Amino acid sequence: MLGNFTYCNPTKLYFGEDALDGLNKELKNYGKRVLLVYGGGSIKRIGLYEEIIKILKNNDKIVFEDAGVMPNPTLDKLYEGIKIARDNNIDMILAIGGGSVIDYSKALSVSIYCKEDPWEKYYARMEDVDNKIVPVGCVLTMVGTGSEMNGGAVITNQKEKLKIGHVFNENVFPKFAILNPKLTYTVPHYQMIAGIFDTFSHIMEQYFSDSDDNTSDYLMEGLMKSLIHSSLIAVKDPLNYEARSNIMWIATWALNTLVAKGKTTDWEVHMIGQQIGAFTNATHGMTLSAVSIAYYRYIMNDGLLKFKRFAINVFNVDPTNKTDKQIASEGIDKLEQYMKEIGVVLNIKELGVTKDMIDDIANSCFSNTGGYKTLSKQDIKQILLNSYHE
Ligand code: NZQ
Ligand code: ZN
Repeated sequence: MLGNFTYCNPTKLYFGEDALDGLNKELKNYGKRVLLVYGGGSIKRIGLYEEIIKILKNNDKIVFEDAGVMPNPTLDKLYEGIKIARDNNIDMILAIGGGSVIDYSKALSVSIYCKEDPWEKYYARMEDVDNKIVPVGCVLTMVGTGSEMNGGAVITNQKEKLKIGHVFNENVFPKFAILNPKLTYTVPHYQMIAGIFDTFSHIMEQYFSDSDDNTSDYLMEGLMKSLIHSSLIAVKDPLNYEARSNIMWIATWALNTLVAKGKTTDWEVHMIGQQIGAFTNATHGMTLSAVSIAYYRYIMNDGLLKFKRFAINVFNVDPTNKTDKQIASEGIDKLEQYMKEIGVVLNIKELGVTKDMIDDIANSCFSNTGGYKTLSKQDIKQILLNSYHE
């Protein structure tokens, strides 16, 4: 393991069919005034809203609501939430939903007592929090982002056409997360597979960096194999508890900071995907799937031995009588085949990207330095063109 690091994950997880019982236990630890944050209504349709309200009332909480958090939450929505939270002097935030609702709640938690514009402080200047943070707890209803056990909070600034994630420290992680796989059964198929690929991408973004022998890589190979196995079951049989519960657990561990330890990590696919999101508002996981194959083919030679290892250890490519390049390339072919099998989007045109957007997307995209190749704007443009199919 290279480098120096600390490891601390303060989020308490409650997992399984009875996980919601954990909410009763946790609520006792927080103040009376609870802000319930949720999305566009799925929690009402699945009956979860009523259940949560009952638990809150039984715990003598005064409930305020901030509803309508959209997928890819916007800065304007954050300003609305700040006003609701300030007007009602809330003690805690209870986020019920997927990554968008949980990310938004974390962004809100650091903004309520922030004396300046939170976009400028946290997203433009990327500064740490130096004010009071309102505690967040969450009930996860959609799997993929890992937001339930990390400090990520991605916000879209529609005016500036920028979608940026701030990864906050442990003091902003949810204090607790309720993970009941059955609550995810009603997630639409498109969102389910987008979440599966989001998880796969989180693992690859960390795996495809460095060349030392690192335990984190072995953990990630196990997570990827388990994800391939369970996702192929879930796409055919979405109510398969074993598969859906494994996927939920993998998604949490894919991005709860553990497997990043000792790794420089890449995250370039996310940089490109996020800017596609800023221009099109497309579903996050699909923005990643649409550029991943083009990206990995583009950088393969710069990290050849790792791509070879990926092919053999994750996709069981037989290395006999093949060059390193052939093995690595076969691994990416297998990845593409797997992506076709689960049905994710492989073409940015399908997400609403038009040819005339490509320069602007490339020019507004950050280039990271932790992966096998630091991309120029021209490289990003080429990857986007390679992901655009008529
Ligand atoms: O709004 P509602 O009506 O609740 O519907 C949601 C939404 O339309 C629906 N949904 C969620 N649970 C459901 C359900 N529908 C039926 N039954 C349920 N049980 O699913 C739709 C998508 O939800 P969303 O929260 O947007 O999806 P996801 O979890 O993929 O979150 C995406 C956001 O997370 C960010 C993304 O950029 C994006 O903004 N990310 C956060 C990360 C982090 N915190 O570390 C990392 C990721 O890479 C990602 O960037
Ligand atoms: Zn992601």
